[in-house]
Amino acid sequence: MRQLALIAHDSRKDDLVAFVVRHAALLQDFPIVCTGTTGLRILESSAGLQIERVRSGPLGGDQQIGARIAEGRICGLIFFIDPLTPMPHDVDVKALTRLAALYDIPMALNPSTAAMLISSGLLERERALSQDAETGQ
Ligand code: PGA
Repeated sequence: MRQLALIAHDSRKDDLVAFVVRHAALLQDFPIVCTGTTGLRILESSAGLQIERVRSGPLGGDQQIGARIAEGRICGLIFFIDPLTPMPHDVDVKALTRLAALYDIPMALNPSTAAMLISSGLLERERALSQDAETGQ
């Protein structure tokens, strides 16, 4: 099953944790991939989620998730960006969002859009697709 990618810059991590807690029922058992520090923060506050962590964003994690988009392994991207602080890895963030646009991956950069994404039926469709693949339909 394709993964949902969750990332937040430092000043937005509390917002992402709150978002995940609010939507924990939907996210339960859904495969999630996070950049390193974001994943750690979510794991500390939301037990029971299925989270894989790649490297921290500034150390290449954004690029790892971008590569997964190119490989067709990501169904959606929720990335709470910090719009007020320049980042040393700005180019990585831009590359990741460029790939999400290129491959037409649903992408939310703030909580209100993320709420729309998660309530759109995307995760349910992914689950159904993977069940069909398993049963050969
Ligand atoms: P982090 O990376 O989850 O390791 O903090 C996020 C980012 O800054 O891209």
